[in-house]
Amino acid sequence: MPLSLRARLLWWLLLPLAAFVFFTGLSAYDTARETADLVQDNALLSSARTIVEDVDWENGALIANIPPAALEIFESPYRDQVFYKVIAGHERLLGGNPDLPLPGRISKLPAYYDATLAGQPIRAIAYERQLYDSGREETVTVVVAKTQASRQAMLAQLWRPQLIRQWLMLALAVALVPLGLTFELRPLIKLKDDVADREPMELEPIRADRLPTELRPIVDAINQCIARLKLHTATQRQFITDAAHQLRTPLTLLDTQIQCAYRREHCDASMAEALAGIHRSSRKMAEMTNQLLLLAQAGSAPQQRAQVRVDMAAVVSSVLEDLVTAAQRRQIDLGAEVADDVHVTGSESLLTALVTNLVDNAIRYTQDGGRVTAICRQEGGDVVLQVVDNGPGIPAETRAHVFERFYRGPTDVEGTGLGLSIVREIAQSHGGTVSLAHGAGRIGLVATFRMRSWRG
Ligand SMILES: Nc1ncnc2c1ncn2[C@@H]1O[C@H](COP(=O)(O)OP(=O)(O)O)[C@@H](O)[C@H]1O
Ligand SMILES: [Mg+2]
Repeated sequence: MPLSLRARLLWWLLLPLAAFVFFTGLSAYDTARETADLVQDNALLSSARTIVEDVDWENGALIANIPPAALEIFESPYRDQVFYKVIAGHERLLGGNPDLPLPGRISKLPAYYDATLAGQPIRAIAYERQLYDSGREETVTVVVAKTQASRQAMLAQLWRPQLIRQWLMLALAVALVPLGLTFELRPLIKLKDDVADREPMELEPIRADRLPTELRPIVDAINQCIARLKLHTATQRQFITDAAHQLRTPLTLLDTQIQCAYRREHCDASMAEALAGIHRSSRKMAEMTNQLLLLAQAGSAPQQRAQVRVDMAAVVSSVLEDLVTAAQRRQIDLGAEVADDVHVTGSESLLTALVTNLVDNAIRYTQDGGRVTAICRQEGGDVVLQVVDNGPGIPAETRAHVFERFYRGPTDVEGTGLGLSIVREIAQSHGGTVSLAHGAGRIGLVATFRMRSWRG
């Protein structure tokens, strides 16, 4: 599974930082321990010295008076136990605790050592001195030891604040990296939303002005890709438009030639039948050509067309006017229920084509004597156009297919299979939707087109 950028950056930052905290923590511990040891050893040394100072000759014998100051040095809230012993001539105990262990070697220099006494770890100093009295010489050994509570407390006091500071730094980094990234990734998320919210045919370059410099090359590359795509679709659409235009002239010519042929006097019945067939085919080709042209126009980006205020009521009535003859021919009752003030923004010719295709379908596929009604009304901020018929309708399972190009239902009625794909293309290019449903009592078809109404 690919790691998120957040997780990756966190690893990059956290691993070295954690290693750094670990090693500086260790070295801080070492320094703190050295300091605590030094303080403790110095206290032991002054205590031992004070004791030695007070070892004196009395009537030819050595006496050790332990001055209170020698033990007061160790006073602390941690209540360390302090032990001492004074030995004369290496074996005679002058005072103190006889069990206090001695180091391996004692000399004039103070010897510090760690030992245990009654199961407790202790730190001790042993220290020898020669005492003279009227020609006599005696070696006095002083041992002072203490338990480790105050030393441990000092070590903790020296070391802990540093450790806490470093952990805090680590925690801050952990918290700030995702926070900073969330902040810094916002332009990227906005970019994603901008691209995702685009209309299908919106092929404008992505704006890179507020993006971090690292992302610019990506956006530039995408923009180049969009530009190529735009050129490609424009070329393709232009090709279809050109081809449709080119086809129109020979088709018109063909139509005229068929008319001429009809008028010839020696046109017998079989010839007339053949001509009628050719005429039907040429009409179908002309219709197909016109539909292809419409499809190409509907697919072009809305920005490339004039966007005007279109009166939908006028569009509907002009379409009905055009199609009323076709309806009458089949005794279809063609009617309209159009509200007064329904306006949208878009292309009048394309919207006319949309309504024409829907009404034309309704007339074509409804049985003779049927009913077709075009309804147009305002619904909230939308304009809704519905074409309702009482014909055979479209079964729910084929409804999705009828929008495909060149799809035709099982019917003898003439057609190109492009009508509804043009409708959908026009609806989408106007930011609208088109849907199909059956009418009341599951009879006929209701085609609904919905788009934002015009806002002045
Ligand atoms: N009002 C309608 N009633 C019944 N069937 C319809 C209706 N409108 C469209 N259809 C079905 O949808 C198919 C596709 O329609 P369309 O795209 O306009 O192509 P065409 O009309 O050229 O066949 C039609 O062939 C027909 O089967
Ligand atoms: Mg049609």
